[in-house]
Amino acid sequence: MHDYDAEYRRLKITGHRGWAGSAQERNLARMTDTLDRLEREFLPSPPARILELGCGNGMSWSLLMAGKGYEVHGIDISEIAIVWAKEQFAERRLSGAFRKGNVCEMPFIPDASFDIVMDGSCLHCLIGCDRTRCLQEVHRILRADGVFVVSTMCGLPKSDDAKARFDPVNGQLLQDGRAYRTLKPLKDIVREVMDARFEVRESTVSVNPWWDHATMAVASRRPRSPDGANGNRVAPRT
Ligand SMILES: C[S@@+](CC[C@H](N)C(=O)[O-])C[C@H]1O[C@@H](n2cnc3c(N)ncnc32)[C@H](O)[C@@H]1O
Repeated sequence: MHDYDAEYRRLKITGHRGWAGSAQERNLARMTDTLDRLEREFLPSPPARILELGCGNGMSWSLLMAGKGYEVHGIDISEIAIVWAKEQFAERRLSGAFRKGNVCEMPFIPDASFDIVMDGSCLHCLIGCDRTRCLQEVHRILRADGVFVVSTMCGLPKSDDAKARFDPVNGQLLQDGRAYRTLKPLKDIVREVMDARFEVRESTVSVNPWWDHATMAVASRRPRSPDGANGNRVAPRT
């Protein structure tokens, strides 16, 4: 697996504020807009419980959502990132619960624990069947009326650098010859999500010169009622 501890050590030593390095502030501004829109259209209101998958040092979705009054929890594979997230929240007197763990296996989280699960750009870090394992875990820990926000790379590589290290057969970007990111067309990601018993309520794609990035609002698919009606029917907006 990619050495995320080394990555966070480097970010911290070089004085960066989070995963995105010098682009952190710009990304945060974009995420703020996205979150405001999601909150208006899909998300339960604060103080709903949210879990950020791959929360890193907590300085993206977790920070924004804690600021809005959500009950924030975060999980990340990197111990260094989790210690840093705790420090950052303590410095800002924000409340958040962060723990080291693998998003493909979260037995310490009971079923139906969260109103919102935010993908902190973590799903695209998962390779092969780890993606199915993670989606199944999210389905288990999300409340029946909860919302899963998928934030993921998508499409095909566009820059020469990305094209040069792309495995088109498996839809993966390679680093030192090993797969470290999944990069697939959006329709394939939607299929994976639907196979994990979710339905996609909305997706938006931001277009970049290197590859695109999708944000999807996703809900658990409920069993159909005996009369054949879709269990996800909602009252019309008035
Ligand atoms: C692209 S970074 C994003 C970090 C943070 N969400 C942000 O937006 O700044 C992806 C994060 O996922 C974490 N990660 C990768 N694989 C993971 C896994 N299997 N379980 C938990 N975290 C993982 C990495 O350590 C990293 O912090």
